[in-house]
Amino acid sequence: MYTQPMLREDSLKGKSIVVTGGGTGLGKAMTKYFLELGANVAITSRKIDVLENTAQELMKETGGKVLPVACDVRNWLEVEAMMQAANDEFGEVHVLVNNAAGNFISPTERLSPRAFDTIVNIVLKGSYYSTLAFGKHWIKNKQENRTILNIVTTYAWTGSGYVVPSACAKAGVLALTRSLAVEWAKYKIRSNAIAPGPFPTKGAWDRLLPGDLKEQFDLAKKVPIGRVGHHQELANLAAYLVSDFSAYVNGEVMTIDGGEWLKGAGEFNMLEALPEQLWDVAEAMARKAKS
Ligand code: HXC
Ligand code: NAP
Repeated sequence: MYTQPMLREDSLKGKSIVVTGGGTGLGKAMTKYFLELGANVAITSRKIDVLENTAQELMKETGGKVLPVACDVRNWLEVEAMMQAANDEFGEVHVLVNNAAGNFISPTERLSPRAFDTIVNIVLKGSYYSTLAFGKHWIKNKQENRTILNIVTTYAWTGSGYVVPSACAKAGVLALTRSLAVEWAKYKIRSNAIAPGPFPTKGAWDRLLPGDLKEQFDLAKKVPIGRVGHHQELANLAAYLVSDFSAYVNGEVMTIDGGEWLKGAGEFNMLEALPEQLWDVAEAMARKAKS
């Protein structure tokens, strides 16, 4: 069931959507479903050849309209030009999905100052630049009923070792989401976020689990429901959050991780490892300790 499209046909008809990092991975999965639901989508990232291939593939598969636009989200002028291109093509843009990201694993003491800048510039500054460009335009032109969806991750609030620049940047994006949800509500602009747990993509897996780390650390084992995410599940949630069905959802971060981060957080969750038959013994010992 969870691998199936969720919303009714035409749920996004008439909407134009920009997905940063839309040429690959989860950005591509969201774009495909937005097209199936009737939206026009501009996909943007640094590599125009990747974007053009994805655009051709998805237009053929869905019959929808995709505009590929090269744009490094770290560069304000490129972001403004990207917004202009999307507005020129579609007339107006209703939804911005800040999905572009950069990440790698490293002990923090091995990082150079520039390594931190690189990740924070893509994730936090890039999301801020795109948000600012579209926000200014929407507010100035009194374009209402607009939505920003930010893709963060659960370590935006727990933090995580070995991905410190990404954790800092995602925490900032979460703060941006919640801050503007209130500040820009008066302009009828909603801001929400999705915090995915592990969803296999080439971009994330090759960088975060390089070489045989994939075999050594099976991420599915960290998830209480015992599996990683399916791209359609993420696309279903994203489509709901950018659609008018979620008109009363504002400032929310929706976790989609099969319970992964809570498993790490709960003090006694390790008792999962206790075999069923040992619970009689454990209970007897605990009761005895009371007396
Ligand atoms: C330490 C590193 C490094 C590494 C790069 N650097 N890789 N330091 N360990 N593995 C340092 C470099 O030495 C350099 O600093 C600085 O970072 C910039 O590196 P460049 O290669 O020049 O940067 P650039 O070409 O801009 O590439 C950016 C990138 C790259 C982030 C490094 O990986 C990229 O383009 N990624 C885009 C896609 C991506 O990362 N997707 C995964 C998202 S997954 P110095 O000082 O030497 O110049 C994700 C999942 C979250 O976010 C949650 C999962 C559960
Ligand atoms: P991905 O395929 O590597 O996606 C990252 C995208 O960002 C790429 O398309 C990349 O394209 C683009 N990008 C990188 N730097 C950019 C820049 N400077 N300017 C513009 N675009 C840039 O990885 P993914 O797994 O699908 O990740 C998508 C989102 O989900 C990210 O926000 C990530 O943090 C989040 N997430 C993923 C997981 C997971 O398990 N996969 C879990 C939690 C959160 P170019 O290289 O062409 O620029």
